[in-house]
Order: sequence, then structure tokens, then C-alpha cells
Amino acid sequence: MFPSVIYVRMFFMKDIKGNSVSDSAAEAVQVVLPNDTNPLGNVLGGRVMHWIDMIAAVVAVRHSKRPVVTASMEGLEFHSPIRLGQIAILKAVLNYVGRTSMEVGVEVYAEDFRTGKRHHTSSALLTYVALDDEGNPTPIPPLHTETPDEKRRYMEAEKRYQERKQRRTGR
Ligand SMILES: CC(C)(COP(=O)(O)OP(=O)(O)OC[C@H]1O[C@@H](n2cnc3c(N)ncnc32)[C@H](O)[C@@H]1OP(=O)(O)O)[C@@H](O)C(=O)NCCC(=O)NCCS
Repeated sequence: MFPSVIYVRMFFMKDIKGNSVSDSAAEAVQVVLPNDTNPLGNVLGGRVMHWIDMIAAVVAVRHSKRPVVTASMEGLEFHSPIRLGQIAILKAVLNYVGRTSMEVGVEVYAEDFRTGKRHHTSSALLTYVALDDEGNPTPIPPLHTETPDEKRRYMEAEKRYQERKQRRTGR
């Protein structure tokens, strides 16, 4: 068998099986600078939302290998502030994949470099839709879950996906 044939077969098999959660997972750090903060020295909420949207979009494009748009952001809470000079750490993973849409979960932590202590400050769930060259929603590869945690998150996200659809379409 020629190598190119082997490659095509492997690619095709991966497409059927889907991509794993770790294939698209992303982590990012942001050093909190004066321009990111309000007069109290806390990071602006809108800045955190922008960081969340950016890292979650990276996960969605890594999985789909397509341009994506943000369809929704929900469940965003600010549990505690991130302070000027701290390090913001963002972790994003794919929870669920529909036909053309993907739910990404993001968690944000603040780290104090003096103590090395890290605490959870925010979480959010975002849905992205992959687009074809004409800008229409396009099918994406399935998500292959491996660990019990990934399987639990997939099932919970599938329920949310159905609930969103129900709210939008009444069906
Ligand atoms: C998101 C968007 C592409 C959906 O287009 P649409 O014509 O409504 O497409 P469909 O009804 O066929 O839905 C396509 C997918 O999007 C999902 N979807 C649509 N609206 C959604 C919403 N508000 N929240 C979550 N998912 C949504 C559907 O469930 C479907 O998923 P599936 O294929 O996995 O089942 C369109 O509404 C859009 O372009 N919105 C603006 C996006 C934008 O500008 N974002 C900000 C900047 S990136």
C-alpha cells in the first residue's frame, strides 16, 4: 500500500471516530495590567468576557478546523475579583458537539505570583457554530470522549443543547 493511501485511510478513520477532548483543549495566561482594570484595581468584567471568548473560540476552531461564530455565552459568574498584578489563567475544553455547533466550557483562575496560590474566579459556557466558505453552518467531526469526567460533561452539555433548542424553536 502506498503511504498516501495509508494516510488517507488514517485521516478518514479519525474523522469517523472524531477528535478527542484533549485534541482541542486550550490553556492561556494573561498578566493583569493597569489597562485591564477598573479604578478599584480589579479586572474589568468585559475584559474577562473577551479573554473567555478568545480561548473558547480557539477550542472550537481546533476541533472543527473551520471559522466559527459565537452563538451564545451563558452561565458567566464572577465569584471573586482578579487583581492588578495577578496572573489570570484560563482553561477551556470542549463539552459537546452537535451537527454544526460546539459547547465549550471555560474556567478562569487568579494566581498570586508571590504566594503561588490560585483560586477559581469565573466559569462560562459558550456555543460556537462552524461556518462553510459561504458563511453557512457546516457539519463538524464528532467528539470522542474518553474519561468518566469527559463523558459526564458530554451528557450534561447534551441536555443543555436540547434545552436551548427547545427555548429557540419551541420543539
Ligand atoms: C449562530 C448562527 C450561525 C446560527 O445560524 P442559524 O441559521 O440560526 O442556524 P441553524 O438554526 O441551522 O443552527 C445551526 C446550529 O447553531 C445552533 N444554534 C443556533 N442558534 C443558537 C444559539 N442562540 N445558541 C446556541 N446554539 C445555537 C443550533 O442548535 C445548530 O446546532 P447543531 O447544528 O449542532 O444542531 C447565526 O444565528 C449567526 O450568525 N449569529 C450571529 C453570530 C455572531 O455574529 N456572533 C458574534 C461574533 S462571532
